Amino acid sequence: MKVPERISELRKQLEYHNRKYYDEDSPEISDYEYDNMLRELEMLESEHPQWIVPESPTQHVGGTVKHGFGSKISHDVPMLSLEDKFTREELIDFVYKIKRELDEPRFVVEPKIDGLSVALRYQGGQFALGITRGDGINFGEDVTSNLRMIKSIPLKLAEEIPYLEVRGEVYMDNEVFEAVNARQEEEGRKLFANPRNCAAGTLRQLNPQVVAERKLSIIIFNLQAVQGKEFESHAQTLDYLSEQGFKVSKYAVCKTEEEIWNAICAIDDNRGSFSYALDGAVVKVDSLAHRLKLGTTSKVPRWAIAYKYPPEEKQTQVLDIEINVGRTGRLTPLAILNPVRLAGTTVSRASLHNQDQIDRLDIRIGDTVIIRKAAEIIPQIMSVVKEKRPVGTTPFQIPDRCPVCGSSAVRETVDENEGAAIRCTNSNCPAQLARLIVHFASRQAMDIEGLGPAVVETLLSKGYLKDLSDIYYLQSRRDDLIRDAITGRPNAKKSDTSKSTDKLLAAIEGSKDNDIDRLINGLGISNVGKFTGNLLKNSFPDMFSIANASFEELIGLDGFGEISSKAVEDYFAQPQTKYILERLQKAGVNMQSKNVNRSISGIFRGATFVLTGTLPSMTRDEAAELIEKHGGRVSGSVSKKTTYLLAGEEAGSKLTKAQGLGIKIISEDDLVRMLQ
Ligand code: IVH
Repeated sequence: MKVPERISELRKQLEYHNRKYYDEDSPEISDYEYDNMLRELEMLESEHPQWIVPESPTQHVGGTVKHGFGSKISHDVPMLSLEDKFTREELIDFVYKIKRELDEPRFVVEPKIDGLSVALRYQGGQFALGITRGDGINFGEDVTSNLRMIKSIPLKLAEEIPYLEVRGEVYMDNEVFEAVNARQEEEGRKLFANPRNCAAGTLRQLNPQVVAERKLSIIIFNLQAVQGKEFESHAQTLDYLSEQGFKVSKYAVCKTEEEIWNAICAIDDNRGSFSYALDGAVVKVDSLAHRLKLGTTSKVPRWAIAYKYPPEEKQTQVLDIEINVGRTGRLTPLAILNPVRLAGTTVSRASLHNQDQIDRLDIRIGDTVIIRKAAEIIPQIMSVVKEKRPVGTTPFQIPDRCPVCGSSAVRETVDENEGAAIRCTNSNCPAQLARLIVHFASRQAMDIEGLGPAVVETLLSKGYLKDLSDIYYLQSRRDDLIRDAITGRPNAKKSDTSKSTDKLLAAIEGSKDNDIDRLINGLGISNVGKFTGNLLKNSFPDMFSIANASFEELIGLDGFGEISSKAVEDYFAQPQTKYILERLQKAGVNMQSKNVNRSISGIFRGATFVLTGTLPSMTRDEAAELIEKHGGRVSGSVSKKTTYLLAGEEAGSKLTKAQGLGIKIISEDDLVRMLQ
């Protein structure tokens, strides 16, 4: 690839990952991989300065101000980023450069917390406003009501100082993060990739109560502006801020490059003892007068740098390779590892993805492997330490029989993203059933609170469930369920177990009245989700007409492709499906299309909407219902056929794509106005 092409490729990639990281809280690559790309671009641009353009990711801070409805607040003091350094040599260069310009500078070394930056403004000692970084230069977003829920943010300072603005890092403790994700899993919701994303997602919640429950913390690392007080050094400001009630950054004051390096290494060595994620150390010039003299670029201060630690790597042994069977029957190999602490958590398993990955790395049971976390959270095996391979090991092969039910497992065509999938051919396989039931009960489908993975696992192992329809026959086994303590905490009092059992049974009973789009989604037909379920509900009077619909009828529906039509036809042709539907109906589960929208006369007739982001007053489901009620169609992805993109706060890649395609972007207000 020629240099200009490579530059353009890197810019495109970096902009994409910037959006994923800053706007969507959903990074796909690790900071390390991102940094490597940025460095390559910086290097190419420094060798070919004629190609530098102001829009290049090297020239501005990553995030863009969110498209949205929250109030934009002007930054009084820019919230700059930091220049990254990766080696001792680069760090020493920085120190030398400062020493050449200043007389006897002192430095401060602090841990670099991996969270998100906010600025807090205090008027007369009272917390008045809290803002996110936004674009770092011009605007951020008002998140005051959520920040008020963070215990480590004092609402009133010890002193009634006229005005103060501080900057700090909002983060989530590793332990809290693991508990939040466990709950997400229990409730069938999407898991957060890492504590940073979870903290970012939490801070943007519309409901401050959720913020309170999720227990965020903040550490203050800079005094941005102050009236009524004077300081000479950064260390002094941190001490003062601590006296005012803030939790401030730990710091070490250093003079020589040796002291700085030792302080950086000491933080790295103790990384595991911090309760939150660190991604480096920050080295800052201490004297505020010195800082003024050095100034800033448009992107970073000249008086500070971030020293980024390489991703932590550990060696451990593969004790076993287990085969997991997913809802769709896919067999996924999982390495069981000798547990090791890695980047804040204990790692004891790592997905091996597929046979191709096992072959490429030649991973065998008994091997010592090097592990690292991808995108800061997902344990990944990087390589095998071949010298440590015990004698007598053999290459690992995913079996051609399902480990759970013993049926044959077949290799399917290679998927671009997932490699070759090997699937169990038995749709009644108990492993598939566990995941299917969890999906059936999830919020997106039948929404049965309390029927999460743990309860389902127990119900299956004790023989209460043999297929989906058994859920609706649990009522008659109430006493057995209580005796076997299926619900609630282990060792709970019998009265509590009765209560939680009744709660679950009531949730099951309540779900019987659901509209059939939820039921269709819950059945787990491949390629049929929420939107397709809705389409089917709106096109047929009941489940039995759907079951009897021909391929031709299905494909004739607007929005139904060949794959989903075939999947629906195949699914309903199975005798097992007929049996399950009959039992569900007998148990009283609704089989009629209820809130049908066949009103093609509606104002949105012929229009396709895509929804993205958080809307100010309605949920996305409510908005979809409103659109469909008026004859519109709701689709999951943006394409040339999209008529409107209904965008709320935190709109991400769909918004960018829609803008690129010139699709009309509307707000919730616009939608409501169109209906008046
Ligand atoms: S100083 C002008 N100190 O790292 C002040 N930043 O990669 C510049 N961060 O946006 C920042 N811990 O959100 C500073 N002790 C610390 C920090 C810290 C975490 C974050 C901060 C900044 C990012 C830059």
